[in-house]
Amino acid sequence: MQLDKFIPPYAKGLYAVCHFGIWMLSVKEVLSKDQVGKKVGVRGWIYRTRSSGGIVFAVLRDSTGLVQVTVKKGSVPDADFESATKAGIESSVEIEGEVAEDKRAPGGYEVRASKFTLVGSSEAFPITEYQSTELLLDLRHLWIRSREQTAVTKIKAALVRGGREWFHENGYTEVNPPIVTGVCPEDSTTLFQLKYFDRIAYLSQSAQFYLESLIYSLDKVYAITPSFRAEKSRTPRHLAEYWHMEMEAAWVDNEGNMKVQEELVSAMVGNAVAECSEELKLLKRDPASLKKIEPPFERMKYEEAMDYLQKKGHSVSWGSDLGAVEERTLTTDKEVPVFVINYPKELKPFYMKENPEDQRTYKNSDLLAPEGFGEIIGGSERETDNALIIERLRDKGEGLDNYQWYLDLRKYGSVPHSGFGLGIERIVTWVCKLEHIRDAIPYPRTVARVYP
Ligand code: 4AD
Ligand code: MG
Repeated sequence: MQLDKFIPPYAKGLYAVCHFGIWMLSVKEVLSKDQVGKKVGVRGWIYRTRSSGGIVFAVLRDSTGLVQVTVKKGSVPDADFESATKAGIESSVEIEGEVAEDKRAPGGYEVRASKFTLVGSSEAFPITEYQSTELLLDLRHLWIRSREQTAVTKIKAALVRGGREWFHENGYTEVNPPIVTGVCPEDSTTLFQLKYFDRIAYLSQSAQFYLESLIYSLDKVYAITPSFRAEKSRTPRHLAEYWHMEMEAAWVDNEGNMKVQEELVSAMVGNAVAECSEELKLLKRDPASLKKIEPPFERMKYEEAMDYLQKKGHSVSWGSDLGAVEERTLTTDKEVPVFVINYPKELKPFYMKENPEDQRTYKNSDLLAPEGFGEIIGGSERETDNALIIERLRDKGEGLDNYQWYLDLRKYGSVPHSGFGLGIERIVTWVCKLEHIRDAIPYPRTVARVYP
């Protein structure tokens, strides 16, 4: 701790190691007026390189950005110059040199090398400028180094951190539900079965039922887990494995559940804007449009959504599900997410609370992201009447054996409660304005792909 005061403030991050008397800095730290004229160390991977007349111009990337390095014959040992001319794209290198201002360089500064060490040379990198989507998916383990994918990953982390912080500040406890389960909260046709010792089990579609069981001791809980859906349809919004942020809270009704959602989503997006404005710009997403995401969000009854869609020329009527096309129409002109509430029972799972004001419907909501995006959250108040739950499970053709524990929750101190599930890659796809959800996760799992 005492030593701390000897470390200059710019060198306190991960890169802050003193290497033979030289501070190793991140690229972002190098790109600063404070560094001009100073000798620094920097390391990373070659992003692009060219040489002309005894000078190598290499652009170096690390997780924080790009910086130009110039390696001049005579200014570095001969062997270093030789290495610099040989170091191809994606080689990892360490450089020592002086920072200088240069308007033509990316970021406005460059490092004039006095030492250049080739740490790991790279074979000809198989990704060049124009590549097919399929090839980029085959080379996913290399493509994730791209600036776009790096930006998405950082924005995703900022969204999730914003969510975690919101939950923490609001008294929620993070919990760890199982991934291997015997229950089917959602559509049985999308269950992944697995041989579990001598019986059949499923990969979790949703942690909901387990979260419901935890509110009796913790009141308000959330979990971030992978969820699995054997979605056969290839759509730009569906993954077979996605990350699910789910919450459940006692004493909360459907309206309270929506308040949590609008605050949570605003906090997540707010944090992404605060921490990642550069990354958003790199993806051509204007942070200003995201600053408008603030509570309250509009609530629209399913019935009103139907009227609106009919006026826009959709042939829908009571009982029609809202698919991607309908959700796009509903949200194209919106700048802020909108809740569609009170869906007909036949469109939604068995665990939702009947709406006493219109018994054809449930007290539920789907949250649709604006700009034509569509669903990012599904939530509801939960049914507390076991007789109704049993009847609905029977109608679905489900045996009750795997649900006895779930029914117990209503026998021992039942409470009104609500919860929801937010698809993390969905919110990332919307916030980053990605065309396809597969780019919201490093290794997308779809019907066609488990490699790499
Ligand atoms: O609407 P869903 O199916 O609701 C549930 O699973 C509830 N049991 C959650 C709860 O109340 N705890 O899924 C919730 C969200 C969707 O709104 C969507 O954002 C995302 O999960 N989602 C998917 N994301 C990517 N790929 C898929 N195949 C997805 N299916 C659902
Ligand atoms: Mg849903």
